[in-house]
Amino acid sequence: MSEDKSPRHAAERRAAEVSEAQIAVHWPEEDYFPPPAQFIAQANLTDPRIFERFSLEHFPECYKEFADLLDWYKYWETTLDASNPPFWRWFVGGRINACHNCVDRHLARNRNKTAIHFVPEPENETVHHLTYQELFVRVNELAACLRDAFGLNAGDRVTLHMPMVAELPITMLACARLGVIHSQVFSGFSGKACADRIVDSESRLLITMDAYWRGGELLDHKEKEDIAATEAASAGHPVERVLIWQRYPGKYSSGAALARGRDVIVNEVLADFRGKRVEPAPMPAEAPLFLMYTSGTTGRPKGCQHSTGGYLSYVAWTSKYIQDIHPEDVYWCMADIGWITGHSYIVYGPLALAASSVVYEGLPTWPDAGRPWRIAESLGVNIFHTSPTAIRALRRNGPDEPAKYNYHFKHMTTVGEPIEPEVWKWYYSTVGKGEAVIVDTWWQTENGGFLCSTVPGIHAMKPGSAGPGIPGIHPVIYDDDNKEVPMGSGKAGNICIRNPWPGVLQTVWKDPDRYVQQYYARYCKNSDSKDWRDWPYMAGDGAMQAADGYFRILGRIDDVINVAGHRLGTKEIESAALLVPDVAEAAVVPVADQVKGKVPDLYVSLKPGVEASPKIASKVAASVVSQIGAIARPHRVVIVPDMPKTRSGKIMRRVLAAISNKQEPGDVSTLANPEVVEKIKKQAGGQD
Ligand code: WTA
Repeated sequence: MSEDKSPRHAAERRAAEVSEAQIAVHWPEEDYFPPPAQFIAQANLTDPRIFERFSLEHFPECYKEFADLLDWYKYWETTLDASNPPFWRWFVGGRINACHNCVDRHLARNRNKTAIHFVPEPENETVHHLTYQELFVRVNELAACLRDAFGLNAGDRVTLHMPMVAELPITMLACARLGVIHSQVFSGFSGKACADRIVDSESRLLITMDAYWRGGELLDHKEKEDIAATEAASAGHPVERVLIWQRYPGKYSSGAALARGRDVIVNEVLADFRGKRVEPAPMPAEAPLFLMYTSGTTGRPKGCQHSTGGYLSYVAWTSKYIQDIHPEDVYWCMADIGWITGHSYIVYGPLALAASSVVYEGLPTWPDAGRPWRIAESLGVNIFHTSPTAIRALRRNGPDEPAKYNYHFKHMTTVGEPIEPEVWKWYYSTVGKGEAVIVDTWWQTENGGFLCSTVPGIHAMKPGSAGPGIPGIHPVIYDDDNKEVPMGSGKAGNICIRNPWPGVLQTVWKDPDRYVQQYYARYCKNSDSKDWRDWPYMAGDGAMQAADGYFRILGRIDDVINVAGHRLGTKEIESAALLVPDVAEAAVVPVADQVKGKVPDLYVSLKPGVEASPKIASKVAASVVSQIGAIARPHRVVIVPDMPKTRSGKIMRRVLAAISNKQEPGDVSTLANPEVVEKIKKQAGGQD
């Protein structure tokens, strides 16, 4: 279909784009909740003058405070080199190692303190308490092995496809020690999705684990690696080796055969590296630390490239002042390390501060909804961090469970999706027992760390609102005509950040044009300008700012569906459906769901002459699961006679979204085929 650029079609095109904000739940403004006095009394940050220090007037030098939380081999010379917008360079001239900052530097005072509490899913298995010393030893041995047995050098890429086990942070930190760039792929993703990321990042190795526990089952994970390695090879980028950790050291827990010459059991080769030490590589501040792939507007996931110095200082600062982590705290973030939240707020942020960070292997509701509270009680967790989806699931399955356990949180976080005020209040009074402060943190994979949140020792909380920009972050809302939407106007628009910050992605891996297009082109004031003020960052979320300056996030404005806090590209799901030969067209839309926030409904039309059948529908669902992973499994596959289309041939996803959400599709008279809407309504309505 050719793109028609005429103004008439531009309006049509805009209308055709699915906007989550259009179907977002709009709840009324809520009352404030003050932070508990007990929390304020111990908080790391209570002085509101911080906002003056971090005003735009003091930009970018204010960020020195961030960098000063870290140890530098060589102190940097330039806080921000913004001479080539939007390619920002932070702490230029500095040399630093992320692993040293998260491990070695804590040995002097915290050698025998727990760095990682690894909690296996089966409740009868022992919890491992890895001290900083033990972490140091294991990271060194693995780094030596990666360097000496597999020849890895600084700048090489390695794909990790690992579950939630202590070996995952160990592997990440071993890479960081050598200056090797890791790219961890969420373990729930399929072998094919992993292969795509291996190929894009040109990874030399794939590191994985044979099996892991999830929902009471020991899942065979290694079998996915066979697909990943085979697919990557046929796409022209074979990995040199697949390294396999054993979930139970000494025992191979997968049914998949080991490929001779390719597969290596890590636990076995490590035997040759006992006691080995590796000096951390003093990396330039600007050296990439890791890639994190995320979904965007087009089918191919983007490799968000994060720096060493800027990123680490950003997550250390936000962990200290927004998460309020003190070294004596036991901190549990229930996210998966396969997502950015886990990178920043399970591994790098908390460990940079010498906290004890919990890594839990399994499902929060396994074997019952009391599990998280038993873990909290037994480990003495006092800071808790999770997503609205997990909170909704725990509330549904065990609304009275928290009261049965003797744990006390001082601080709780919610992240990943908007949280309904009603769910927020359950989190506050039942999970937090009215004693914990809550931060609703808004940010993205691209951002490295939090952008909007209340500062817990300073601001009152408002259920349903993330809060103002954190110190140093200056958000602004623009409308479609590039005008600023004033606070308190009650109008929504596109949330942008006026200024660069140290945690923001450096670029999209191997695709600088896409980086500029995706985040900066839309609201750039002058593309020839060398002034950072002309280059606001566009987040891709709809938002509103209340008169008090708090932001409420409404949802994605691009073709992304946020399922249970996981970002999925509509195009990725649609292309998976189109792999089924009978399918002619596919369109996916977000449907509001009580637990997961949003789930995808997948509409497909079939090629002429093909009869609709449940078999085709299950083939479509299976294709999505094998291409992407079970998290993307469509809620429903609806086979329709035709897609509702504009006259220029664009699928009107807005109409499908309305039908799936049991709302009126609005004016459909401008469609090329308005009569199809009634037919689809009948079909979709009858399938619940
Ligand atoms: C959404 C996760 C409302 C938002 C850290 C964003 C949120 C996308 C919040 C990024 C929040 C994240 N309130 N919505 N507190 N936090 N989002 O890249 O739409 O997996 O653009 O990063 O999640 O998802 P990502």
